[in-house]
Amino acid sequence: MKTKSVYICSECGYRSPKWLGKCPGCSSWNTLVETLDTSSKQSAASRPSASIQSSLNRPQQISEIKRGHESRFSTGIRELDRVLGGGVVNGELILVGGDPGIGKSTLLLQICENAGKTKKILYVSGEESAAQIKIRAERLHVNTENLYLLSETDVETILENITDTKPDIVIIDSIQTMHIEGIQSASGSVPQVRETTNALMRAAKSMGISMFIVGHVTKDGSLAGPRVLEHMVDCVLYFEGDRQLSFRILRAVKNRFGSTNEIGVFEMRDIGLVEVENPSQMLLDGRPDDISGSAIICAMEGTRGILAEVQALVTPTGFGNPRRMSAGIDLNRIFLLVAVLEKRARMNLSNSDIYINVAGGLRIDETAADLGICAAIAASRADVVIPPDMLFIGEVGLGGELRAVSQLEKRLTEAANLGFKTAVTPKQSMRGIRIPDGIRVYGVRTISEAIAMFRKG
Ligand code: TYD
Ligand code: MG
Repeated sequence: MKTKSVYICSECGYRSPKWLGKCPGCSSWNTLVETLDTSSKQSAASRPSASIQSSLNRPQQISEIKRGHESRFSTGIRELDRVLGGGVVNGELILVGGDPGIGKSTLLLQICENAGKTKKILYVSGEESAAQIKIRAERLHVNTENLYLLSETDVETILENITDTKPDIVIIDSIQTMHIEGIQSASGSVPQVRETTNALMRAAKSMGISMFIVGHVTKDGSLAGPRVLEHMVDCVLYFEGDRQLSFRILRAVKNRFGSTNEIGVFEMRDIGLVEVENPSQMLLDGRPDDISGSAIICAMEGTRGILAEVQALVTPTGFGNPRRMSAGIDLNRIFLLVAVLEKRARMNLSNSDIYINVAGGLRIDETAADLGICAAIAASRADVVIPPDMLFIGEVGLGGELRAVSQLEKRLTEAANLGFKTAVTPKQSMRGIRIPDGIRVYGVRTISEAIAMFRKG
């Protein structure tokens, strides 16, 4: 089958056989995008399902429609099952996104051990040779008769192999390495990624195959081909985490068969990814809970909330000027918050050195961390231990007042998911929000009130 590509203007739909900088149709610049020519006779014939369907398909009353039992199977990894909404639905198309090296291939290979007990799996890699994957599989103790490896990047060949092998599950690692005949743009470009996903999706849906597609995230944080993949697939999972830290968070950003509020937490060990049963435990594990000057905050990065530990060490200045040092938070912000604490909370810090650190090498650029930083400084100064299940969310104003933060509900949900019991937040942020189960929220107006929350016990 030989399909041609055509360049179509995204503004006016003008079609051109070759790329043009300026659209002759509407005079827009840079709007011509390469697409497979699906209007030609030959490719319409290669997709008969569309025309057959249109002659049979008619609207039905909603009450007439049989719901059908969506049958799911377990991946054997409970954290992943939960994020998916209770396992993989047969015929589901799942996109697994994340930074290179975060552990996407590892996770998908680990699924094979359990799923391979009942399902036939085809693992297609465009990045590694079959031998390389075998070495990794051995290390991960994945050894099932039902796992077939294919090192290939050509979509036509992959589709032929899918038809021959008739697997129940197909893993494509990664979509950026795949290319489809007819599109001249390089692998990983928007047209390639879109058309490749399209072709794979059609095959998967028509054969009832569950398919995992790996997509690397580009530097600006979006999957290659901005959003072109996300609307096509049933489920979008993001695998996140600091590569220097061992823990990883798996999050659904879209799920047609479940909710998107669940997260799965893993730890990368030498034997692969290990599920973390109780994430808050893991978070609290690393930090001593009897040491003063540590406070937990929740920062939003894009749409995700990240809980982090801010540590402060306040010590008497030996001689000369007091020192202020910070790792992970802008030093100017520390100066400002120290000034507010001195003036508004009547805390004498002029004879103290102050060291601030965000545990785990995280960088926090958000004013919602202010309250947590102040709490850590106040706690270290007074040498009190903040309860380990308490967290602080709020911006501090120059008057010592607490300012509302955005997305409080999301932050609280994140904290509640990770096992936190108490949150200290600005009072005015609490209006009209739904407080998640398991967490008590105290609304306070000033920095002094917030500090009183843990100083009284
Ligand atoms: P990988 O799954 O190859 O990442 P991706 O497919 O998302 O690019 O994971 C690569 C990293 O994980 C690599 O830096 C090594 C580490 N790793 C372990 O620490 N333990 C293991 O058992 C495996 C397989 C990988
Ligand atoms: Mg990989």
